[in-house]
Amino acid sequence: MTSKTVAQLLSQDVTLQDVSIKGWVRTFRANRFIALNDGSTINNIQCVVDFENFDEALLKRVTTGAAIHVTGELVESQGKGQSVEIVVKSLEVLGDSDPETYPIQPKKHSFEFLRENAHLRTRTNTFSAVMRLRSSLSFAVHKYFNENGFNYMHTPIITGSDAEGAGETFRVSNLDSKNPPLNEDGSVNYKEDFFGKETNLTVSGQLEAETYAMSLGKVYTFGPTFRAENSNTSRHLSEFWMIEPEVAFMDLAGNMDLAEDFMKSVLSYILDKNKEDLEFLEKRLLDEEKTKPQAERSDMSLIEKIKFVVDNNFKRVSYTEAIDILKNSKPNKKKKFNYIIEEWGADLQSEHERFLVEKHFKCPVILFDYPANIKAFYMRLNEDGKTVRAMDILFPGIGEMVGGSQREERLDVLKEKMKALDISEEELWWYLDLRKYGTAVHSGFGLGFERLVMFATGMGNIRDVIPYPRTPQNAEF
Ligand code: 4AD
Ligand code: MG
Repeated sequence: MTSKTVAQLLSQDVTLQDVSIKGWVRTFRANRFIALNDGSTINNIQCVVDFENFDEALLKRVTTGAAIHVTGELVESQGKGQSVEIVVKSLEVLGDSDPETYPIQPKKHSFEFLRENAHLRTRTNTFSAVMRLRSSLSFAVHKYFNENGFNYMHTPIITGSDAEGAGETFRVSNLDSKNPPLNEDGSVNYKEDFFGKETNLTVSGQLEAETYAMSLGKVYTFGPTFRAENSNTSRHLSEFWMIEPEVAFMDLAGNMDLAEDFMKSVLSYILDKNKEDLEFLEKRLLDEEKTKPQAERSDMSLIEKIKFVVDNNFKRVSYTEAIDILKNSKPNKKKKFNYIIEEWGADLQSEHERFLVEKHFKCPVILFDYPANIKAFYMRLNEDGKTVRAMDILFPGIGEMVGGSQREERLDVLKEKMKALDISEEELWWYLDLRKYGTAVHSGFGLGFERLVMFATGMGNIRDVIPYPRTPQNAEF
């Protein structure tokens, strides 16, 4: 007799054989039907017990949430809803549950409640499906880069620089917070800190990835990044995973091609590998949509949306064109936007991005050539002297999925920019070295992995696509 997973048992048609299976009880109905799940698939296997053959005290312990070991015969199912089932010969309770206090009852729970019980929420269909998809997608990410000649690089998590030039980092320090060493002017003396300087958790692996692109050619990082922004939205986490490829001798057009091809590839991977999970989540989303007013309902199902992205070209639009569209749009003229677009140079808010993607183009949009002064210091200045070779990829229902650019490879232009923004040359000496020794055109982007998982699963809140979300005022588990 061999131990198998539920997924294996359900996908085979050889019947009448001895099997052994371990899992958690989802329900035990009529003292006869155990729905057993082991996480290998969205589906349960039905285990049929003849209660006359079993001790009543033992059967009482078969409650929702208990871990059990079942052996028996795999047979063609008599009932509806499953093709095979197990006729139980022996039953062992490996770990009892307490039906009075077990939080995951066989009924609908709110996502808020399940977030408070995030350690048990993957015992529900929705969360097990989401997390299997998350796992599959991250495998697809590595597969794509591996098959396309990229080297996987582990960029540091503790850094001494703030890549984006923004003050939104988490400090890393082991100084005594009650009594830190001070400089003469009363400021904290970080020379006495662990690393002998101020350090923080990384906001992006990009700058270090650039160094490797300029030697290994094609690299990517895929790791956790940290941002201390106080933005309590359904699309922001304080700790999130970012995929960042960086490629030498590639310009912005190549960067757009790479991002588009990459996203299509990982999404088609899950269409193939995670069919059952996607079908389940599609149905969940349809049920949820039914509770919304008609106008807010999507005209595509989850799988249709994913296929649409895989099969259609992303729309490429310059910032300048986008501003024209927005200026002449109905919500702008009727002052329905919170921020009215008046002139070129305005930073786009998510209401504008949503309008472009969901109302105007109705497909993923790559916006490029943004005004230099609303983008980061390292982006390549265009010949017009006022725009940079930046690109953002905007997705329906999500907003910004990708941010990237061609990097400024000219030492003098980069230095000037850093000076204007008061970014210290001493701190980024190694970054400037890349422009001194064999500089070249290079580009890359960052894709927020959780936003991709949101799109692929149809989940509406980013807290529900990462196992243990970190957000302002929340770091439970
Ligand atoms: O646009 P961002 O800030 O770009 C960078 O960090 C560049 N250094 C990337 C690069 O060129 N290598 O972030 C990239 C993506 C965003 O488009 C978004 O998808 C995601 O990271 N992101 C977040 N996801 C979840 N929570 C947050 N707080 C996020 N901030 C950014
Ligand atoms: Mg961005």
